[in-house]
Amino acid sequence: MESHASVLPIETLELLGPKKGEVFIDGTLGLGGHARLILEKISPRGKLIGLDADERNLEIARENLKSFPNIELRHANFRDLEKLVEPNSVDGILLDLGLSSPHLDDASRGFSFQNEGPLDFRFDQNQELTAAIILNSFPENEIALILREFGEIGISKKLARQICRRRWKKKFARTNELVELIEAKRLLPQVFQALRIAVNDELTALERALNSAPKLLKSGGRIAVISFHSLEDRIVKNFFREQKKSGTLEVLTKKPVIPSPEEIKNNPRARSAKLRAALKK
Ligand SMILES: C[S@@+](CC[C@H](N)C(=O)[O-])C[C@H]1O[C@@H](n2cnc3c(N)ncnc32)[C@H](O)[C@@H]1O
Repeated sequence: MESHASVLPIETLELLGPKKGEVFIDGTLGLGGHARLILEKISPRGKLIGLDADERNLEIARENLKSFPNIELRHANFRDLEKLVEPNSVDGILLDLGLSSPHLDDASRGFSFQNEGPLDFRFDQNQELTAAIILNSFPENEIALILREFGEIGISKKLARQICRRRWKKKFARTNELVELIEAKRLLPQVFQALRIAVNDELTALERALNSAPKLLKSGGRIAVISFHSLEDRIVKNFFREQKKSGTLEVLTKKPVIPSPEEIKNNPRARSAKLRAALKK
């Protein structure tokens, strides 16, 4: 059975403070771990709207949450939140960014440099753009930009040149072909992260969802975001700071909340998590 240990579950619930009868959005349903905790607090009359870009995870969550009648699950990207929800209608929004454990464990999705698989990296299998398309057809300077901006890789130009030389001889298809090309193995996590962010346009999606949040929340409603790398955390931190200045949001986390050593020991994938939350005034 597929599983995913929800990150910072108690801390997230404390900051979101769900109560009986409230309406919540989980924009990153995954396997429904956080959603279940929220549903336990808002049921029986409250409602949870759960989104996931990945249809497979959405189906697992549907099964995991079938005992709750008060849920509305949608195959959707949280970038489109504003199209899906009425203004001033929700008490809380959760975004738990990035990958779920099944993504990394399933070699056929290509997310992990440790498992051989296709250069895919899509959350949403209906989307056209894959990592292979970027590597095989994007101009060298765009590949360098992706590696620098989304992977914070210093030698991005050199890597982009190597990638383009390799594809002239033979196009990329499998993760191991990329792994073999990159001599500095320590850079592999950053290269894979950069391609994943580019394929799923993750930072734009985050910015769009954040911009929608103050419009969708009721006064007193809360938003919590769990991020897993500095690029995401910076976007959340800066957005909350701006909204505080303009008087729209009150920031509930002066510093990001991070997992305890015990949580990291039990769930090493939680190690880079940072949780920030804010309240709509
Ligand atoms: C870290 S997991 C969420 C785990 C979940 N909180 C739990 O406790 O089971 C992130 C999920 O968000 C989904 N996702 C990532 N980006 C998304 C986006 N822009 N829109 C909708 N879903 C997204 C992924 O497919 C994945 O299932």
